[in-house]
Amino acid sequence: MVTKHVYITGEEAADETIYIEAAKILKDGGLVVFPTETVYGLGADAFNREACKKIYEAKGRPSDNPLIVHIAGPDIPEQLVREIPEDAKKLMETFWPGPLTIILKKADGVSDIITGGLDTVAVRCPGHAVANRLLELSGLCVAAPSANISGRPSPTRGDHVIRDLDGRVDMIIVDDTVDVGIESTVIDMTVEVPVILRPGAVTKEQIRDCLKREILSPETGPEQDISVPRAPGMKYRHYAPEGALSIVRGDAYAVRAFIENEVLNVKESSLKCAVLCCDEHARSYSADVVLSYGKDAAEAAAGLYNMLRTCDRKGCDVIFAEGVEEKGIGLAVMNRLIKAAGHNIIDV
Ligand code: TXA
Ligand code: MG
Repeated sequence: MVTKHVYITGEEAADETIYIEAAKILKDGGLVVFPTETVYGLGADAFNREACKKIYEAKGRPSDNPLIVHIAGPDIPEQLVREIPEDAKKLMETFWPGPLTIILKKADGVSDIITGGLDTVAVRCPGHAVANRLLELSGLCVAAPSANISGRPSPTRGDHVIRDLDGRVDMIIVDDTVDVGIESTVIDMTVEVPVILRPGAVTKEQIRDCLKREILSPETGPEQDISVPRAPGMKYRHYAPEGALSIVRGDAYAVRAFIENEVLNVKESSLKCAVLCCDEHARSYSADVVLSYGKDAAEAAAGLYNMLRTCDRKGCDVIFAEGVEEKGIGLAVMNRLIKAAGHNIIDV
């Protein structure tokens, strides 16, 4: 398949023809990659089974892993959900459009291709001008997982998407204003006590302030103990770089000393070594590749997946990542890092 690439810069964002063409592809059952504020999405018409099947083929994704349905505005179409609890409405009013996905009871017409056979559906109203215009113009509900090959880091830049999906989709819309850098927060609102199934830029604290009630999150939620994970995507290995990644946590000084010592050990072999670290430490490591998280957790989130992909591109065999403080969006950064490392954590 020949993939059409479209690059959006300031002026082209106003060019209607791009959206008309992309919307037509979606309506005809094709696949379009589009930017959102979190990561790029790989979209298809959510009510076209054949189109949704193509998503799984293009990504090489197991088909029991359900998809998020994206909508143009904060009003959820009736054909999508059976009911919207009052607390879910509060979340929609407060955080949409934005990086929050809400799990609700699905309406009858939503196929199991979308839900992976569950009785629920994940709904998200993204906060990105390009995504919103495309959704609005198409008039569709668009199923869209992250636009990466399954098991690779989610794409946050045009070159990531092109590398993974060129030749596998009809159109790729590149607009490198994908600012958040990690996937949306996913919250299950179909249960008695809401559960955050995946942490993201909308934090537990913000949700608690909005709902004025207790909510569960991955550290406290029951999903860790149950054999059928609540967010089925959580059971798959994710975001993995090709090199062996370890996370080192603890006192900043001890972490730095430990990693540098490991780096020196690796250097005795012929292996290539990378370190991901806070900005203050970036000049103090002697690794082949040293990548800084930037000035805070938000910058770490924005750059994380590009760092992991950079390690691959540079052929790094061994990667050490300093832990970041698990507060605010830092919690989501650590959640993704830990998955990328296959839970390989060293506490010093
Ligand atoms: O930021 C995002 O959410 C991005 C952009 C493109 O919108 N999308 C994204 O989709 O990250 P994906 O497919 O990579 O991740 C969706 C997650 C998976 O962990 C999946 O298991 C979970 O949401 N999920 C989807 N539907 C669900 C449902 N009905 N119940 C529980 N978890 C669900
Ligand atoms: Mg994904």
